[in-house]
Order: sequence, then C-alpha cells, then structure tokens
Amino acid sequence: MAESYSICVLPGDGIGPEVVDCARRVLDALSAAGGPVFVYDVQPAGHGTFLECGEAMPAASMAAAKAADAVFLGAMDVAEIPSGGGDPLGDLRIELEVGASVRPSRTLAGIVSPAADIDCVVVREVTEGLYSRIEYMVGDDAACAVRVISRSASTKTARMAFEQATARQRVRAAVGTDKPTRVTSVHKIGVLKLTDGLFLEACADVARDYPNIEYETKNIDACAMEMVREPGHFDVILATNAFGDILSDVAAGLAAGLGLAASACIGDRWAYFEPVHGTAPDIAGRGIANPCATILSAAMMLRHLGEDAGADAVEAAVYAVLAQGDVRTGDLGGTASSAEMTDAIVQALSS
Ligand code: IPM
Ligand code: MG
Repeated sequence: MAESYSICVLPGDGIGPEVVDCARRVLDALSAAGGPVFVYDVQPAGHGTFLECGEAMPAASMAAAKAADAVFLGAMDVAEIPSGGGDPLGDLRIELEVGASVRPSRTLAGIVSPAADIDCVVVREVTEGLYSRIEYMVGDDAACAVRVISRSASTKTARMAFEQATARQRVRAAVGTDKPTRVTSVHKIGVLKLTDGLFLEACADVARDYPNIEYETKNIDACAMEMVREPGHFDVILATNAFGDILSDVAAGLAAGLGLAASACIGDRWAYFEPVHGTAPDIAGRGIANPCATILSAAMMLRHLGEDAGADAVEAAVYAVLAQGDVRTGDLGGTASSAEMTDAIVQALSS
C-alpha cells in the first residue's frame, strides 16, 4: 500500500494557482504510476483573500497548514496588501517555525545561462532581519525599519547550511567530483557591527562542528560581484534574510532564471515549499507561466517526505524535457504553454 500524505495547498495570487495546478498534475501522475497518494487541502491566502475577507492569512488556512504533512505554495502578491492588512508569507514562515529557506541553483543541460558552471545553494534565514516587521515613522521626514538578528535564528540557519554542505559533500564523494565543499556566509560587518557581528559569531560557532567543510565569510557587495565573475567558486551561501533574498535571485539569474528556481523551508515540525518567483501579474491568467520552479519545489517536498525515488523521478523528468529542448515556455525562449510543458514532463515521468 502506497504512502498517503496530506498536503495543504495555498495557491495564492497571479500565476500561483496556474503553476500549482501543473505541479499537482505531476504529483498525481506519480501516484497513478504506483507512487504515494496526495490528499490536497486547498486553502485561501494572499492578496485576493485579503480583498475577499479582509485578512490575507485566515486563521483556518494557518490551522490547515499546521495540520498537514507539508505545505505547498504558489505565489502571493504581498506588495499589494496594504500596511496593516497582514503578511501571509511572513506569518507562515514565523508560525511554521521554518527558520531557513533552501534555494538551489545550477546550470542545466539545454539551458543557456549567463554562468557556465554555477552549482550552489543559498540558505537564507526567513523570519527576522530586515523582515522583522518593525517599522515606524519618525516625524514626517524619516521612516525606520528595525533589523533584528538573533543568535538562535542565525544558529538554526547556519546549521541548515552546514547540513546542506555535508549532504553535497557526500554526493560529490559518491560521484567523484572534486569541487570543494564550502560554506560562504555573507555580511556587511563594517557597517552592521552588532547585528552582523552576532550573525557571524553564530555561524563561526556552528562551523567549528563541521571541520571537514571549508568555511569563509564575504561582504555582501563583494559576494554579489564574485558570484557574477566567478560563479563556480560558490557552493553553499549562508545569509541573513534580505541579503539572502537578493542573492538567491542573483544565483537563479546566473543559472537558469526564476522559471526554474525552487525552494524549501524546513523546520523541526513543519515544512513548506514554494517557487522563488513571484506572482508575475503581467502574464497571470494566460496559461504561459513556466511551471518548472513549482514542479521542482514539489520534488523538494517529495524528498522531505522521504519519497526520494519520486523526487529523483520528477527532477529527472523536468531536466530531460529541458535538455530535449522542443517544449519550453516563453521565459526559456520557447512558445509552449504551461499545460504543454507539464504534459511533456508527465510524459517523461512515465517513459
Ligand atoms: C521570496 C520573495 C519574498 C521574500 C517576497 C514575496 C516577500 O521575494 O520568497 O524570495 O522577499 O521573501
Ligand atoms: Mg525573493
């Protein structure tokens, strides 16, 4: 009897519902082929939900997220939600105690990317830093945002980064690749002496527990420049919230673009999975969004659920379709619709 998993689905706004439907088709194809069974609980959240019921993250949606084996997100138009109207992504990240977001980027066969040899993962704290939601006006002329950095969240994120590095080292040893396994933590210590001082201290403490992993630190600006100049140097990038937000897009852009950038936020009790991209309002509703980032996020969800064979199969199917090259969406230079791209992936899954 196949395993059965309850998945709380938050399709969100813009292209979110479209790409989530594509990923569900891939997951269901896996079930049809004798894989695990997924029981979906679709819940409202996001800007559209705010317009309908005055809250962007209703309590019932949060309760459903906490009750499920995993949470699967599309995208949410958080920029459109007025101040005080709720912060559904922030709420999820904080309430599900996920700590860090893991965002892999690498060059893929069949995809022309600006970087010939990038293969890295950005591990980004997602609950505090510049996203601490402490903002206030000072008179009419100034506004402040408080950047909170805690030792506990920094340690948790650093541990996730070194665990990622350890897993990558294991894979490299198995396939005989000689790329060094290293963690690069990113900061602006010259200016943010206390906050990034605390962050770097926590990272260095964790690094001592992993003597076989190379550890280095880089200023955020230098790091961004070096990622562009020498992408192959980077392996695991460990960052506070806003720096990691920016660098994960840089890494995605250097690899294959946001259309292929997946992410996983895994905490001790809960986990959620989402594409790195946003709601793409310019193409929403037209059925032309690239579903691959969401499908690859589903693969990360499968891996988290212990369904390694399913995760491998979904990743291989996506990579095979991309390498083959006939069927691709507009962002990758093709003309396929989201549905056609999904059809091709489902077909590759069964071949
Ligand atoms: C991401 C997104 C979000 C973030 C936005 C939508 C709030 O850019 O997940 O990278 O900044 O965390
Ligand atoms: Mg982002």
